[in-house]
Amino acid sequence: MFDKNVIHTKWMKRAIFLASLGKNTASPNPLVGAVILDKNGKLISEGFHYKAGMPHAEAMAFNNLKKDAKEGSMYVNLEPCCHHGKTPPCVDKVISSGIKKMYVSIEDPDKRVSGKGIKLLKEAGIQVHLGLCKQESLDLNQAFIHRNVTKKAFGVLKWAMSIDGRIALKNGKSKWITNEASRSLVHSFRAEFDAIIIGGNTLRRDNPFLTTRGLKKPEPLRVVFTKSLDLPSKSNLWDCNKAKTIVFYDSSTANESYLKRIPKCVEVQRLSSDNPELISKILASKGCNKVLWECGPKLATAAIKSSCIQEIITFIAPKILGGENNMNPFGDFEFEEMHEIIKLSDSQVSLIGNDICVKSSFKN
Ligand SMILES: NC(=O)c1ccc[n+]([C@@H]2O[C@H](COP(=O)([O-])OP(=O)(O)OC[C@H]3O[C@@H](n4cnc5c(N)ncnc54)[C@H](OP(=O)(O)O)[C@@H]3O)[C@@H](O)[C@H]2O)c1
Ligand SMILES: [Zn+2]
Repeated sequence: MFDKNVIHTKWMKRAIFLASLGKNTASPNPLVGAVILDKNGKLISEGFHYKAGMPHAEAMAFNNLKKDAKEGSMYVNLEPCCHHGKTPPCVDKVISSGIKKMYVSIEDPDKRVSGKGIKLLKEAGIQVHLGLCKQESLDLNQAFIHRNVTKKAFGVLKWAMSIDGRIALKNGKSKWITNEASRSLVHSFRAEFDAIIIGGNTLRRDNPFLTTRGLKKPEPLRVVFTKSLDLPSKSNLWDCNKAKTIVFYDSSTANESYLKRIPKCVEVQRLSSDNPELISKILASKGCNKVLWECGPKLATAAIKSSCIQEIITFIAPKILGGENNMNPFGDFEFEEMHEIIKLSDSQVSLIGNDICVKSSFKN
């Protein structure tokens, strides 16, 4: 006897796997995968959403059909769309295909859809089963859901430190704390992000490139947040052939005469304050689902205080920098009691040569 639930779970997991293939390209759209079975339960097509403007997962699966889908079933990790975006609604395609059963893992948080797609399918007489592999699907589209619900980008804060918790010497020198393998891992995981954010001081001191070294095309957007606008006229971030850069500055504190140091190809945006939340909101409105904060202690502390960080990734090298004045990853959160401190959860630990990588989530 076959356990039907095991079979349905297997196909939904396949849809989730297919969805994950769009990990570095689908943003600002969600990660979606689709599987179509014929009326005898045989796989007849599958698809995933690769990029905005290209077919949705369901449409790709219908385009790839090897056989008639009539009376068949479909598995998708996200509710099919019912609105006209860059491509026509998937719900119409499902209804006209004659598919009888639809397994949907989670509802689309996009207000234009959320529940309406499922309603239309049911009204057309299709049996809709909602909730299979729900947690996996929520995890997969965590950043997309976060942006839709909060209107802010899902923020990941990354830093590298010595085993005694230092990120730089007191003179600002920090090259290199971690090993080469950890650093190239950073280049590859940058590809999962839509934007990478630093503060003006990190730009002045480190002059970073903030690219994936060609692993992602186009490269993630590079973002500099400055209060003073006192940025150098020569910087690796000003090379617009490598990647786009935006400078956000606080107009209440900046010296706007420094604007002339920034080349014309770099976008510049004035803000009303130095609250990092403004950046998170603007980037979300530009379609950034997931952003990486690679900043030093001042901006990192401000970003956490303004709830811009949902996850941290820290690389810890077995090295000792010592010294009372060497740099910590954070400034003061002004906690007075132990119950006030920030507690992280869902930690994952991995070894990269002799370095340790810890990934943890903020409880919101
Ligand atoms: N080991 C690591 O992982 C790592 C990572 C990043 C940085 N670092 C080190 O950290 C040092 C820089 O530290 P930092 O804390 O000055 O970093 P930062 O990332 O440059 O952040 C501070 C700067 O951000 C700007 N800013 C905008 N809004 C702000 C706000 N609300 N609060 C605070 N700053 C705001 C200011 O730029 P303006 O001064 O231009 O106004 C400020 O000086 C460097 O030595 C660098 O090497 C280490
Ligand atoms: Zn669609």
